[in-house]
Amino acid sequence: MHQKLVSQKFNRLQSQDDIIVLGIETSCDETAVAVVKNGRQVLSNVIYSQIPIHRKFGGVVPEVASRNHLLKINSVVDKAVKDAKLKLSDIDAVAVTHGQGLLGALLVGVSAAKTLAYSLQIPLIKVNHIQSHICANFIEHQNLEPPFLAIVASGGHTAIVKVESYTDYKVLGGTEDDAIGEAFDKVARLLGLPYPGGPEIDKLAKMGKPAIEFYKNPKGINKALRLSYSGLKSAVANYINKANMKNEKINVADVCASFSKQAVDTLVKSAVFAAKSEDVNSIVLAGGVAANSYLREKLTIDCATQNIMVFIPPMSLCTDNGAMVASRAYFSITTGNDIADLTLNARANLPLSET
Ligand code: KG4
Ligand code: ZN
Repeated sequence: MHQKLVSQKFNRLQSQDDIIVLGIETSCDETAVAVVKNGRQVLSNVIYSQIPIHRKFGGVVPEVASRNHLLKINSVVDKAVKDAKLKLSDIDAVAVTHGQGLLGALLVGVSAAKTLAYSLQIPLIKVNHIQSHICANFIEHQNLEPPFLAIVASGGHTAIVKVESYTDYKVLGGTEDDAIGEAFDKVARLLGLPYPGGPEIDKLAKMGKPAIEFYKNPKGINKALRLSYSGLKSAVANYINKANMKNEKINVADVCASFSKQAVDTLVKSAVFAAKSEDVNSIVLAGGVAANSYLREKLTIDCATQNIMVFIPPMSLCTDNGAMVASRAYFSITTGNDIADLTLNARANLPLSET
């Protein structure tokens, strides 16, 4: 009965002028809810970050993340609706990240979204976390339209993706092992920097020289777009261990600058190569590592010389948020895709190109 009614509402939404979506994101350590109109206009964007809670453990503790999502989710939903100056009855659809991410953390958002969809009798839309990171760019860049190339650089993913339409995401290449954000966090940990390590390395890198060669013969770009970060991370670990054994002091800022340069340069060069091979003239950045200043700068400079346009989300939309989830869902609604029923489950390893 419920599903029949919401399916009818879902079909009607496609011809509605304004569509208001509430997006819920709990895949990792941010409890985030936003209200977005027509996929690009943010009416509210509330983020409760658990970073201070996880910092004392040196990383995200999945069980602790789930419990804190549970504590906060209701108040974050209430605030998002209030900040948007709306009532719950004004919401046309509820969107939720159902993968990828931490299973227990995802389940909190999925359960909250199902409850809202059922009680408000509105459609529930399932959203892929990584695709939603890419959609953060539709909010910031109102005229951005597919096709384009996306660099997805987060704590769990590193991929070069061709966005063929608002709903088609084709993975061209990416990491074979660690994600770039994971490498940033692991190197930061080796250096004794607090969690999350990425922003700390970013700050220190600005004060250092990128002159350390962790590898003797760094490889050029791989034309099959196969990237790797675990080798670089191990090379940095060896460099630090060797210095410690010889009682030599390392220059932390130089290590940060050199690691950032080596991690970022290959990614940017590979993306530029992919854009040329695929004949697309725009590259967008997505994911938490898109906040990295060297990545933003390097991509802008390299693309300028190749006449490729670059789109970068503002810092506030780089890390996990509900606005990107609502934006991604809007494009599913307008194309009649991704409506879920109340059996929706979380998928920790949802592949990037699936919803
Ligand atoms: O996308 P995100 O918020 O969560 C995942 O879905 O993974 O990304 C988090 C990752 C972490 O690894 C964090 O260290 C990294 O993004 N990060 C950065 C910066 N800000 C966040 N890495 C490098 N430089 C930064 N400024
Ligand atoms: Zn993320």
